[in-house]
Amino acid sequence: MRRATITGWGKCTPPAVLTNEDLEAVMDTNDEWITTRTGIKERRITHTETSDMATVAGRHAIATAGLEPEDIDLLILATCTPDRIIPSAASLVQAKLGVTNAACLDVNAACSGFVYGLSLANGMIATGAARRVLLIGAEKLSTLLDIEDRSTAVLFGDGAGAVVLEPAGDGDGVLALNLGTDGGLAGILTVTGFGTEEIGNVAEQFSLYMDGQEVFRNAVTQMGEAATRAVAEAGLSLEDVDILIPHQANTRIIDATARRMKLPPEKVFVNITGYGNTSAASIPIALTEALESELIRPGAVIVFVAFGGGLTWGAACLRFGDRVTPLGTSDARLPATSFTGLDLLLQRQDERRRRRGLA
Ligand SMILES: CC(C)(COP(=O)(O)OP(=O)(O)OC[C@H]1O[C@@H](n2cnc3c(N)ncnc32)[C@H](O)[C@@H]1OP(=O)(O)O)[C@@H](O)C(=O)NCCC(=O)NCCS
Repeated sequence: MRRATITGWGKCTPPAVLTNEDLEAVMDTNDEWITTRTGIKERRITHTETSDMATVAGRHAIATAGLEPEDIDLLILATCTPDRIIPSAASLVQAKLGVTNAACLDVNAACSGFVYGLSLANGMIATGAARRVLLIGAEKLSTLLDIEDRSTAVLFGDGAGAVVLEPAGDGDGVLALNLGTDGGLAGILTVTGFGTEEIGNVAEQFSLYMDGQEVFRNAVTQMGEAATRAVAEAGLSLEDVDILIPHQANTRIIDATARRMKLPPEKVFVNITGYGNTSAASIPIALTEALESELIRPGAVIVFVAFGGGLTWGAACLRFGDRVTPLGTSDARLPATSFTGLDLLLQRQDERRRRRGLA
């Protein structure tokens, strides 16, 4: 059975920036609290839909792999903020991107979605059911932000990242995966009012609830254990890991995971400062930036590890191929906007109030 290896990568980070200082102006918070508790300084807020960001990131990944959209035979889009329930956001991306020969589906494992999608892509390539997979993580979490809830509104941002996966050569590719879920803890990180459950109160629409401390405690344990198990299942030791690319939820969670894995800070990639938590998009955005910064050498051993609502967690240990530079480039980007991140956040808040009948 052939393993899958990453041959293309790309990202889409929307142009409108929302800083901690912007948030200070509209809620009872401050830069010092947000920075010390989370490591976040600013995040991007999109003026488009999830599928638009996914399309831009996908275009870059396909170009980097030296392929054309028609070469892709499977498109997996990891998201918990699709444009609509039906069709999948992946179907919308197929039409926008021209990936006409691909079967398309969304995967929702919240912030672990990219690692779950990687597992599916790897399995499909291993069985020969797919040869060239476009795996995208894309999220418009600003839809869920409520400036009346300071405990969650400061944490999240929008964006997309993508990879192309193809059958691996002899030594490279996905070496091991370790996934897990604890549905018994579903209630500690949940979005209600966007599904078949009857909405008792219209104020519950798109309502994000998180027990921050419980999520934190579980994240530290599960991320450390999943990553360590994936490395062991790959037949490697922790010293063999060249770079850890964790889900970017919180620098304190990342630091604790790295400590459990006994990895020095220089082996851990962190870019949460500029983007906040972009859920399923965070790992492919981070991978793209690590490659753009030449932090990944040919044959590097990489560990991805993620954690999110579900509760879900997952880790992947892989060896990168010999090529760490793009075969091609794309000039794809989102349309320009004159709105700031704060303008967009306030527009969304007005829409939220209007839906609740409060405006
Ligand atoms: C959310 C999180 C940063 C909160 O940090 P914490 O140290 O647990 O903070 P607490 O919730 O105990 O709140 C401490 C105080 O800060 C206040 N606070 C909460 N949000 C605040 C904000 N944005 N600005 C200022 N103060 C805030 C609280 O009201 C509380 O005040 P009190 O002591 O007067 O009641 C932290 O729990 C966390 O990172 N959890 C994991 C979240 C996560 O990563 N989720 C996504 C997983 S994919």
